[in-house]
Amino acid sequence: MSKVLVIGANGTVGTELVKLLKAKGQSVAEATSKNEIKQGQVHLNILSQEGIESAFENVDRVFLLSPPGYTNQDKLLSPLIEMAKKKKVKKVVLMTAMGANAIDTAPLRIAEIQLEKSGLSYNIIRPNWFMQNFNSYWIQGINSDGKIYLPVAKAKGSFIDARDIAAVAAELLLSEKFSNKDYDLTGSDVIDHNQVADILSAATGRKISYQEIEPAAMKAGLLGAGLPKDYVEFMLVILDFFKQGYAERTTDAIEKIIGRKPISFKKYAEDYKSAWLK
Ligand SMILES: NC(=O)c1ccc[n+]([C@@H]2O[C@H](COP(=O)([O-])OP(=O)(O)OC[C@H]3O[C@@H](n4cnc5c(N)ncnc54)[C@H](OP(=O)(O)O)[C@@H]3O)[C@@H](O)[C@H]2O)c1
Repeated sequence: MSKVLVIGANGTVGTELVKLLKAKGQSVAEATSKNEIKQGQVHLNILSQEGIESAFENVDRVFLLSPPGYTNQDKLLSPLIEMAKKKKVKKVVLMTAMGANAIDTAPLRIAEIQLEKSGLSYNIIRPNWFMQNFNSYWIQGINSDGKIYLPVAKAKGSFIDARDIAAVAAELLLSEKFSNKDYDLTGSDVIDHNQVADILSAATGRKISYQEIEPAAMKAGLLGAGLPKDYVEFMLVILDFFKQGYAERTTDAIEKIIGRKPISFKKYAEDYKSAWLK
């Protein structure tokens, strides 16, 4: 039976992906950088490269991502792609981000190109901004002040539910039907942050509103949250891309791959409302 190695298995997409793979009867090796290993987990530290060879033991399919917080994603992903080649895995699915292929010298694009040229059977998925950022990265302002603080004016985004990304990844990992293709993944609701706030308000019964802030204030907040300076600069650049309208585009990739419409922002808000009622 095939075994799937999931990098970032404890993360937003990885948690959902592991659930789906197990529900399909797959054996899963859940990678973690933590030293304490639970049943089903394997130790693999992308930064130190510790545990890479053993994590690939008896694995024939791999889900790859670079954890957030680092800007040298090509350096982090390269040894994993090399190991996938060495072990002759049957399929690699790499998750980067929508827009990552805009410039060939960008670190995520360098990793994508390495995979494309590897000779391995692969897919690259580039999701747009996750809906789940509102119950993680942006939650503090929502729960303390009822505000979504972002420097993106009235630009719109086709936010995607991480559960849809996981469903796509599960399908691509186990099927050859779509091999050696790349997909930009988006939701189908194209909304600005005033609309996001209205939907969150309706789901929770709380008054939540959008407060545009200056990039400098965003920067101070991210640095205050302990993010490294180079990653904060990167976040400001991609938030500016959002402000310029680059996150508005929609694709039909989800429907093409899993045969159903993307999860709506309203459904996401209803499913996660307990996060904003604490
Ligand atoms: N958020 C967005 O809007 C968005 C949009 C497009 C693309 N993306 C991409 O999505 C990816 C993040 O996915 P996600 O949100 O599902 O992840 P996540 O929730 O941030 O989780 C990442 C996981 O990586 C693991 N990890 C951290 N450091 C590690 C290390 N040194 N070695 C091995 N594993 C490590 C952590 O698990 P352990 O603690 O168990 O190690 C963590 O659970 C990033 O590449 C980002 O660029 C995000």
